[in-house]
Amino acid sequence: MSSHKPVSDRITVPKFVKMKQDGKKISMLTAYDYTMAQLLDEAGVDSVLVGDSLSMVVQGHDTTLPVTLDEMIYHAKMVARAVQRALVIVDLPFPSFHLGVYSAIESAGRVLKETGAQAVKLEGGVEQAEVIAGLVSAGIPVMAHVGLRPQLVMQMGGYKVQRDEEQLMADALAAQSAGAFGMVLECVPQSSAEKISAELSIPTIGIGAGAGCDGQVLVVNDMLGLTGGYVPKFVKAYANLREQVSTAAKQYCEEVRSGVFPGPEHSFK
Ligand code: KIV
Repeated sequence: MSSHKPVSDRITVPKFVKMKQDGKKISMLTAYDYTMAQLLDEAGVDSVLVGDSLSMVVQGHDTTLPVTLDEMIYHAKMVARAVQRALVIVDLPFPSFHLGVYSAIESAGRVLKETGAQAVKLEGGVEQAEVIAGLVSAGIPVMAHVGLRPQLVMQMGGYKVQRDEEQLMADALAAQSAGAFGMVLECVPQSSAEKISAELSIPTIGIGAGAGCDGQVLVVNDMLGLTGGYVPKFVKAYANLREQVSTAAKQYCEEVRSGVFPGPEHSFK
């Protein structure tokens, strides 16, 4: 017997889409493991994204390119096992959907069959429309990702705000027409995100796209202040866990070295 809530109690894809129609802003955060996913779900986040950002924040790579489909599935299983209410979406990693519709269905099908997640996300608009349509026709809900596409970092030579509004709108409309149920808009001017959000009937989830989107997403490590080094302008840190973890770990080391820990209350008679 499943320990998960019945589907009717969960945020399903249709409920997620209806949130836009009802004027309810959508909250989304990334998660990569059981404990964090459980905490975010219990806090009431509407959607948990197993982002391919795990390549950088969990695996320590410089880009999102190295993470494999098997590794995404490994982490997505932990997340889906924890989440009772939120919509769980899993990124299709590079290049699991670039080899044609058949291989995209094979990759996304594995995600849905093996992890318990409800949907996949893929980077692309116009040039991925055929793949999105193929996945949707196979019954696989797809969130598109338009604007800055980190999987194109080698081509772009870095991460930049995407300002070509005509192209952004064309990508957004192509993804919607192909059957995407929602869309991440990454690093685009606020005015462009507002126009796209007003034009589309499906929800836009912004990251570095301003307040006019239908929802917002952040990488959880950034949001919790766990990230060391460069943090993008669009991030708001709601905690400083990096400092707290460091302080706690230093105190633990000191107490072990000085014999303060373990005390009698931590020991068995
Ligand atoms: O991989 C990821 O975490 C993402 C979000 C930043 C939207 O795609």
